[in-house]
Amino acid sequence: MNNAPLGVFDSGIGGLTVARALFERLPKESVIYFGDTARVPYGPKSPDTVRRYSAEILAYLLRRGVKAVVVACNTSTAHALGYLQEHSSVPVVGVIEPGARAAVRATKTGTIGVIGTAGTIASGAYERAIKALRPEARVHSQPCPLFVPLVEEGWFEHPAAELIAREYLEPLKRANVDVLVLGCTHYPLLKPLLARVMGSDVTLVDSAEETATAVSRELERLSLLANGGAHDHRFVVSDDESHFRKVGALFLGEQLKQVEVVPL
Ligand code: DGL
Repeated sequence: MNNAPLGVFDSGIGGLTVARALFERLPKESVIYFGDTARVPYGPKSPDTVRRYSAEILAYLLRRGVKAVVVACNTSTAHALGYLQEHSSVPVVGVIEPGARAAVRATKTGTIGVIGTAGTIASGAYERAIKALRPEARVHSQPCPLFVPLVEEGWFEHPAAELIAREYLEPLKRANVDVLVLGCTHYPLLKPLLARVMGSDVTLVDSAEETATAVSRELERLSLLANGGAHDHRFVVSDDESHFRKVGALFLGEQLKQVEVVPL
């Protein structure tokens, strides 16, 4: 079991930011990454739909013999993590609790901003996770639905992206947050722009590295760390392999070698 792969999934390409952190933190682990490119975006979809899609992906990854599953998608974590954990025969780790932990560690004033998809913000999952760790924290949340298509287009520094970011982030600046949680897989690619808009007093937190640390701890606790030998990274998408390859290289910072198409 130790040398079985880790399953990582997202609604599409964005979860590669989490995969990248996992590759760096756990270089001996094999990984199967599933991107649901046929049904992305999950952000505007109902909790029931996101739960159903996520359960289908979990079942697929279990059939592929994974030893643990990382839900790299914030929207899936928000709507489906508890459900997936109840229905999985292997451990399932999401991105929200690790992100909340990093935010609580970084804040000095206890005033924390969270941005994410419409679904993630409406679920209140970040707010609950932050308050579970620091009950007196003040959490200001803002959905930023237009950021996902901007990132997919590669418009990380485009004037249109800056205009939209200023509009979305204004209420958080007014609330004087000292930490901004990037509660969506795509937002780390907008980091330089968001840092400029928020100003140098605000710390940006993304959950990718903290999630990789949480996964490493969980594997260690369960004596499931890979113990050497051959390992590989496989990528599976439900549609549009060529777009995934092209944009995925930006998220991962390297070329994607093997990409299979498996419509669920
Ligand atoms: N992966 C999603 C998330 O982190 C963003 C893209 C989508 O809306 O599906 O919330």
